Amino acid sequence: MSHRVLTGITTTGTLHLGNYVGAIRPAIEASRAPGVESFFFMADFHALIKCDEPDRIAHSSRSIAATWVAAGLDTDRVTLYRQSDIPEIPELTWLLTCVTAKGQMNRAHAYKAAVDAATAAGEEPDANVTMGLFSYPVLMAADILMFNAHKVPVGKDQVQHIEMTRDIAQRFNHLFGRGQALFTLPEAVTDAEMELLPGLDGRKMSKSYDNVIPLFEGGAQALKDAVARIVTDSKLPGEPKDPQGQAIVTIYDAFAAPEQRAAFRAALRGGLGWGEAKQQLVALIDGQIGPMRERYAALMTHPEQLEAILQAGAAKARAIATPFLQQLRAAVGLRPYTATATTTASKAEKAALPVFKQYREADGKFYFKLLSASGELLLQSSGFEQGREAGRWVARLKGEGLSADAPVRREAADADIAAALAALKDD
Ligand code: TRP
Repeated sequence: MSHRVLTGITTTGTLHLGNYVGAIRPAIEASRAPGVESFFFMADFHALIKCDEPDRIAHSSRSIAATWVAAGLDTDRVTLYRQSDIPEIPELTWLLTCVTAKGQMNRAHAYKAAVDAATAAGEEPDANVTMGLFSYPVLMAADILMFNAHKVPVGKDQVQHIEMTRDIAQRFNHLFGRGQALFTLPEAVTDAEMELLPGLDGRKMSKSYDNVIPLFEGGAQALKDAVARIVTDSKLPGEPKDPQGQAIVTIYDAFAAPEQRAAFRAALRGGLGWGEAKQQLVALIDGQIGPMRERYAALMTHPEQLEAILQAGAAKARAIATPFLQQLRAAVGLRPYTATATTTASKAEKAALPVFKQYREADGKFYFKLLSASGELLLQSSGFEQGREAGRWVARLKGEGLSADAPVRREAADADIAAALAALKDD
């Protein structure tokens, strides 16, 4: 059973070393694990919420896409796309908006922060709030639910949005699922490492603190210049230095193997000068990101290559999104007239149920499989010599649910299988 991981990056700027260490690098590593299906996207609809500079949004999107690819993302294996290439996402946003409680959105941190800021400035509470900002969490829920992601790696500030996504999904499932889970409930994954990389001044590396080390922008020179600005204590070369709590050491660690970490600390304790230490840091970082920077530059000067990658990604994403949205539209009652005209209510109920299909293969054996109401494969049996054996297992699965000894392979999330079997109980 594959496991879906999805995350997006808002396209309002270019990435810095903290984004690379905290998000890009671990996401690429995780995407190589067997059984993981990864979805990464440029959240450009989200960017419109906080930015009204078209060129900045366009450049940022291109730069972030190039960064993913340059950093080693295998776009044959994962799905990399622009949010705005998937029209199903804004459409799903509307379906979700209609089941989202306004009161819950009132409690969103980003919205509350905007209200607090306005109030503190003596303005109307909603003075600086667009509907985009207010509805931000619903768009994010659509991003996640569109692909039924299991895990969503995010920064801590986004965890509330994942909780809201779960609530919205649950409500939608309850209202329209007829006992089946249309949406998978996602879980936030917050890696401690994600928040850790300090900036030049020792605080978390962040554009808003103006303490970042750029990832590719500005080339090796910009990397050198930024590292030169890392704040250290004022000990001179030759004086023993305490590595503990130094931003330069933490940044070094993020790129170093354990032995290198120990050697760097020992050298500092032995009097290594900060200037020399900074040169070592630049060499270490550049050894890893230098080759990526070259690929990045090539992609930025060949936008047609990048565009082709993104078009292919959009096609892959839509191969999932288009039929799923069709199913969701039908679930809420947006159906072709021909469907309603020829389907009585009770037939519709039946059509929405999962089914067991029994059949015989060319090998002469008898098989069965369980399909969801939308035709998605949930369980696949092994082959039986006798048709009756297959029939007995089907009856048992319907009556008692899935047991460990059942001769079946699970092809979907356990929760989805359990929900489907529950829907068939005593059928
Ligand atoms: N809101 C996220 C951020 O600012 C970006 C984002 C948009 C996202 N949609 C998403 C992250 C879906 C994870 C899943 O960081």
